[in-house]
Amino acid sequence: MTQVYINGARDEANVRDHDSLDVSVQELIRAAAEARNNAYCPYSNFAVGAAIRTSDGTIYTGCNIENGAYAASICAERTAAVKALSEGKREFIACAVVAQQEKGFTTPCGVCRQFLSEFAINGKDIPLYAAKPTNLPLRVLCTSVLQLLPNSFSFLNGK
Ligand code: THU
Repeated sequence: MTQVYINGARDEANVRDHDSLDVSVQELIRAAAEARNNAYCPYSNFAVGAAIRTSDGTIYTGCNIENGAYAASICAERTAAVKALSEGKREFIACAVVAQQEKGFTTPCGVCRQFLSEFAINGKDIPLYAAKPTNLPLRVLCTSVLQLLPNSFSFLNGK
């Protein structure tokens, strides 16, 4: 039986060629890669970019922004999400995450999974694409928020 690692590290079944993906997904990945250039990460030196498309088609981007008081740092995914949410956009159609990790793909941390899952309720999962900024030919892990965090906590469950 093939072992599936849903965090993407070895989940080959969900890895696709960038060029085979819908152009709207390619655009989202490109936006995340560009946002990554704005990362403020002097402590980890690990730059992350994210992009979220909302139901009206708008793309909101984010990067990680660290702080000398480490716990005050924010991840790229939540930066993008709060930008969309604070503009009144709650329907997330897709999310892309871009970072340069030698092995595997960078997928959202536990806090970001929980944060995003708040907006994936009532069966409305959010497709999530993880890619590297440069490696060619570009391969993309295609997963989703609920795949990454099944049975997330929700006050709204059952409503
Ligand atoms: N980070 C993100 O922004 N998104 C992820 O998906 C993984 C981790 C950030 C947090 C911190 O600034 C740095 O990457 C190293 O953990």
